[in-house]
Amino acid sequence: MNPTGEGGSVRLDHFYDKLSSLAYGGDYNPEQWGPETHAEDMELMREAGVNLVTLGIFAWATTEPTPGAYDFTWLDAHMDRLAAAGVAVCLATMTASPPPWLARLHPETLPVMEDGTRLHPGSRQHWCPSSPVYRRYAVRLTERLATRYAHHPALALWHIGNEYGCHISRHCHCEVSAAAFRTWLRERYGTVDALNEAWSTTFWSQRYSTWEEIHTPRAAPSFRNPAQRADYWRFSSDELLAAYLAEKEVVSRITPHIPVTTNFVPIAKTLDLFRWAPHLDVISYDSYPDPHDPDAAQRTAFSYDVMRGLRDGQPWLLLEQAPSAVNWRPHNGRKPPGRMRLDTWQAVAHGADAALFFQWRQSRGGAEKFHSAMVPHAGRETRVFREVTELGAELAAHPALLRSTPARAEAALLLDWPAWWALETDAHPSRVDYLDGALAYHKALYDASVPCDVVPLDGNLSAYRLLLVPHLYAVSQEAAARLTEYVRDGGTLVMSYFSGITDEHDRVHLGGYPGPFRELLGLTVEEFDPRADGTWAEEIRLEGAEQVVAYDWGGPAVTRHAYGDGTAWYVGLDPDPKTMRELLDRVRAEAGVGPAAEGLPDGVRVRTRVTEAGERIRVRLDHRDGSVAVERAAPAVPRAAPGALRR
Ligand code: GAL
Repeated sequence: MNPTGEGGSVRLDHFYDKLSSLAYGGDYNPEQWGPETHAEDMELMREAGVNLVTLGIFAWATTEPTPGAYDFTWLDAHMDRLAAAGVAVCLATMTASPPPWLARLHPETLPVMEDGTRLHPGSRQHWCPSSPVYRRYAVRLTERLATRYAHHPALALWHIGNEYGCHISRHCHCEVSAAAFRTWLRERYGTVDALNEAWSTTFWSQRYSTWEEIHTPRAAPSFRNPAQRADYWRFSSDELLAAYLAEKEVVSRITPHIPVTTNFVPIAKTLDLFRWAPHLDVISYDSYPDPHDPDAAQRTAFSYDVMRGLRDGQPWLLLEQAPSAVNWRPHNGRKPPGRMRLDTWQAVAHGADAALFFQWRQSRGGAEKFHSAMVPHAGRETRVFREVTELGAELAAHPALLRSTPARAEAALLLDWPAWWALETDAHPSRVDYLDGALAYHKALYDASVPCDVVPLDGNLSAYRLLLVPHLYAVSQEAAARLTEYVRDGGTLVMSYFSGITDEHDRVHLGGYPGPFRELLGLTVEEFDPRADGTWAEEIRLEGAEQVVAYDWGGPAVTRHAYGDGTAWYVGLDPDPKTMRELLDRVRAEAGVGPAAEGLPDGVRVRTRVTEAGERIRVRLDHRDGSVAVERAAPAVPRAAPGALRR
């Protein structure tokens, strides 16, 4: 899965060699400040136990103030100062926000919305992902940076771009993007006829006669072609990946010994992260739970489980979180005392090897001046900085956690971006939200203290006793066969409604829903019948499955089907959280999947990491009072391999 192979792990050694305990620090933006502040920064970083900063993320305009005229003197000074202070640097390629001169010289690099509006500079990320001009300038700067700092003692890790797809997710509809989309489609389909077939273009007279007629799905009078839209999402993710890879190619060539990452945004529809993950040496993630959200802990746990799953359980880096409030929600509650610590330990418990913040020092001006930072406007004599300092010392006291392996779960949830994209196109029987579905299934395990991994369709499914499959709406015959095989070989699978409906081109699997899963599930869905209040319902005909739960108005709603050596459950509605919990408790009991620890009170979660020496370290998070305990755990009780327990 990892094209970086062995080299990737050697490169990672370079990163880990610079750390003696979990990475701790934040985005450091010294270009916003003067020399006196810089001196104080070093003092406060020492006090806080900072050992890693991300540097230069928005420093393109400072470093290349006019085209081709580079000024690295300021950065040299910071790199040297940080190295002297023992702080490693995750150095950004600075390409997330081009300087205004790029738009002046090349307005064609600016992204265009689906209605034709061109976006302008003045915030950030104002670049067309397909623009060869943007890429040329970005690569040129990356080359300079990589050459200059290749052997700098502070350089630990490359930080390519920043949060790809955060602001320009449904990215660009300019002519350059349209041409790139056509090239991408040619590679996928070969001929216009094959595309017509895949996109079902005979419907509504959309049949194309040449490639030139095909565009990105721009604003149109009614529902746009769903296959075109799903392909556009695929293309968008791939195109941003290509922009990332253009810079990665440079740093890999000039500094083959330095590992590479980029920070992913909070779980979003934007990028197919399973396609991205092989191209990062280590996964990085930015997490911004809302302190006002009562479900924040579970939602956050889910996103951390996704990050851990992207590279099959490899530890990942929490590259950004807020020490207290953010400033981009309508109401930005602070993190109360202790919450930053709890949130940080939650990330570590779920496999993070780093806890970094946005940002080190709170900005004086600009759009994020009210976003909290490790050093607040009021300086060191503050509650936030005191907690930052205490947390730095606490993390440093657990060096064995660094690079320890998060324990593998017995249950997994299947996540699939292409199915997500196709599911959320228009004109369906009812609105079905993919992420809500995934979160609801994850919650039933989380509430029962059952660890859950996240896997892709082509992942290592047989490692799990239980596989949850929310809304796998679009699925190829081959992928469906993998799931069937998983159950036949003894796995327990729970599939939610509106799965297996269309193929990878959003064409319905004929012969009764859910085509490729009918035999596995032992049923046929005759008709969808969502209720006026939006509740999902459908008419299910049993063909071997047994009814477990009925709809209020009668007819099977939840079914169970013994298949091969395993069991396939089907859930034809959105159970309320209590019913969902009861259902999954029963499924788990049958599948032999237990909680992380017996008898945990509500609100208490534990996760285990295993050190290289085989020591088990347990992190106990108490979400009721915010307390955290990190303790040695007893050796694991040997358990039979999943297959051995199967009938
Ligand atoms: C992230 C971004 C940071 C900062 C932060 C504020 O999405 O990468 O640069 O804007 O949000 O919450």
